[in-house]
Amino acid sequence: MRSPWLDIPLGDYEGHMLLPSVGQAEMLSDQLGRIVIELDPDSVAVLGCAGGNGFHRIPPDRRIVGVDINPHYIAAAAERYAAICPRLELHTADIGSEAPSIEPVSLVFAGLLFEYVPSQSALRFVKSICRDGGTLAAVLQLPLEGAGVVSRSPFKSLESLESVIHLVSPEELEAAAARAGFQLRSRDQVCLPSGKSFAIRTFRST
Ligand SMILES: C[S@@+](CC[C@H](N)C(=O)[O-])C[C@H]1O[C@@H](n2cnc3c(N)ncnc32)[C@H](O)[C@@H]1O
Repeated sequence: MRSPWLDIPLGDYEGHMLLPSVGQAEMLSDQLGRIVIELDPDSVAVLGCAGGNGFHRIPPDRRIVGVDINPHYIAAAAERYAAICPRLELHTADIGSEAPSIEPVSLVFAGLLFEYVPSQSALRFVKSICRDGGTLAAVLQLPLEGAGVVSRSPFKSLESLESVIHLVSPEELEAAAARAGFQLRSRDQVCLPSGKSFAIRTFRST
């Protein structure tokens, strides 16, 4: 099945995430920035990187790897960051399939990705690009009673996500991660003014 992400213009996606009623772009960027400050990794892979949200929170001298299924998103990330981040590597790839050959990194960040890629295949991809002892940080959307899984939006192209989004509970991710060779490191949660909450889990690759 063709991913609906291939048909969502980046402007629509970013416009949606920046809506004050959504506010998720800043949250994801903040979470990436927080963990980069905590771990000070020499290399970071952002899976489902879209147009590079949060890349500016990684020191530009670090190796930064961005992966996304949508080649237009990757092209936008390149245009925005290639001149600023000399060690930037960008890949158009389906994280649900085999990993391209990417030299492993110290930190893998997956913000709102497990909602779109089956955990087992996403974790296989993560395992192949995460160093032994490296960290996986995942941000998961939690269910909110009475609200749509995809927030209401004037950007109609986002509606196509409703048929494919699948919320993964933190417990499901923890169990799948343990099976894939990741040890739980930390649990956290953030709540946005919209009322939506997000779980943050970090794991060490063992
Ligand atoms: C909810 S967005 C999160 C984007 C980003 N982390 C941010 O901060 O805005 C999900 C991203 O994952 C990408 N994506 C969805 N399915 C994918 C797949 N199978 N392989 C690679 N990327 C995928 C989408 O194109 C989109 O950019």
